[in-house]
Amino acid sequence: MMETKEKSPVENKDILYCASLATIPDPSCKNVLVTGASGYIGGRLVPELLARGYRVRIMARQALRNREDVASGAEVVVADALNRASLDEALEGMDVAYYLIHSMLLGPCKFEKVDRTAAINFREAAQKARLKRIVYLGGLGDSKSNLSTHLKSRLQVSQELQMGQVPVTILRAAIIIGSGSASYEIINNLVKNLPVLPVPAWARTLCQPIAVRDVIKYLVGAIEAPQTAGQSYDIGGESVLSYEEMLRMHADILGKKTLFIPVPFSSIRLFSYLASLFTPVPHQIIRCLMESIVNEVVCKDNCIHAVLPFPLLPLREALVRALTREEQDRVSTRWSDAYPPAHELAITLEEVLPRPQFTVVYSLTSTKDRAALFTSICEIGGKEGWFNSNWMWKLRGQIDRLLLGVGTARGRRSQHSLRVNDVIDFWRVENIEADRTLLLRAEMKLPGKAWLMFTIEPVDGKNKLSVTALYQANTIAAKLYWYFFLPFHHFIFRDLITEIEKRS
Ligand SMILES: NC(=O)c1ccc[n+]([C@@H]2O[C@H](COP(=O)([O-])OP(=O)(O)OC[C@H]3O[C@@H](n4cnc5c(N)ncnc54)[C@H](OP(=O)(O)O)[C@@H]3O)[C@@H](O)[C@H]2O)c1
Repeated sequence: MMETKEKSPVENKDILYCASLATIPDPSCKNVLVTGASGYIGGRLVPELLARGYRVRIMARQALRNREDVASGAEVVVADALNRASLDEALEGMDVAYYLIHSMLLGPCKFEKVDRTAAINFREAAQKARLKRIVYLGGLGDSKSNLSTHLKSRLQVSQELQMGQVPVTILRAAIIIGSGSASYEIINNLVKNLPVLPVPAWARTLCQPIAVRDVIKYLVGAIEAPQTAGQSYDIGGESVLSYEEMLRMHADILGKKTLFIPVPFSSIRLFSYLASLFTPVPHQIIRCLMESIVNEVVCKDNCIHAVLPFPLLPLREALVRALTREEQDRVSTRWSDAYPPAHELAITLEEVLPRPQFTVVYSLTSTKDRAALFTSICEIGGKEGWFNSNWMWKLRGQIDRLLLGVGTARGRRSQHSLRVNDVIDFWRVENIEADRTLLLRAEMKLPGKAWLMFTIEPVDGKNKLSVTALYQANTIAAKLYWYFFLPFHHFIFRDLITEIEKRS
């Protein structure tokens, strides 16, 4: 299924990192497929490619309806790397493909097998499509050492891709620092939220972080430098330091007097669980990342500097820029942009069967302007909280976190702008119709599926503001859950729309 959009100029010029790149687009590699475009790296790569004149096709598992942020100016193809046939259509007529897929959110028990299958499928489809090149962004780490499951899996993916006839360019990175990156948000939130940080032995392992802008430059430069075909490069910033030193650097930037206390215990399971309670990043991601902390991730050589020379952003500056972007509410992509682990969580209200059996509506009539009411609706959650009954939302979020759900700590990408697929605490934006409807889909741990719909309708010269909770329950436990929370919903939703109206 392919949707084509009119090419439109890339508006947000300040997110373009590649303007200073010395390479120029190669006309024989004009047609570029970007997989993982809904993700953190892919979402930043696409505008750069479009700005350089490439014809970009985005591959996504879900139709990117109302996702102008990602799809504007590009063609969209719906395909799943686990479905070999769908890849043929995605790759048809393409010269180059970026392979930016991973399934870390599935958790350590599952992602290894799934990512390997996806890579095998992609290799076969790329060969059939006679692709000129695949560019893969993988992870650093010494293949001869005892690598974590995550790093081993990243290596396996590169090996699988290389087994085909299509030349592969491999870029291997350690942690990537930029606003919205999972690694940055973990560092930032740990330092901001904890005055005392326990330091297990593995926090002294060395790593070589790289700024997201430099990663994007390498990705774009790779297809513009023909000599990178069939080559593997380690990419990293200027600093080689321990995780503890990085946390100390960030504390210094924030002006925090954090106490770092060495501790004799080092259980990754415990630390990842604790870290998930103090950061917006879910436990599954933190656990995978922390398991890799025991492996040194430092570039073995700097060969890439000779091929794509440009000044690298120092780590301190990368941290300051990430912080500034967050404070200025200008985060363009975020780790939470990729869909949650269970893809059934991505089923939309339109698609769900049977239809939600339980609904409850709360409404009020307002004389206020429709646009003002809608703006106020779109500011819920994140730093603003949920207005009057905030503690109840927070409590629900904490319970969710304890159950290893996403909780409310994910917050929002931006407090003042909202787009389809953004997360708002434990919700994901499913649809936005300006000044009319905001539809949110629940991603918290629930025995059923839930949606929250805000609507504004004109009635007798006034505006009717409503919030509707919709719930699909297939089991007795799921039905009991609905009835148990019904009295709470009464207070929460009534308060919520009253406050939305007041603030608008
Ligand atoms: N971010 C970092 O700090 C970092 C560091 C080093 C290396 N890397 C590498 O960079 C690459 C991209 O990372 P990222 O942070 O951008 O990832 P991300 O934000 O988690 O995005 C992952 C992407 O993979 C897609 N995907 C997952 N399973 C798929 C499937 N079966 N078929 C098609 N698409 C699928 C997801 O699409 P849906 O929206 O459909 O789920 C999503 O767009 C990865 O290879 C990663 O190892 C990242």
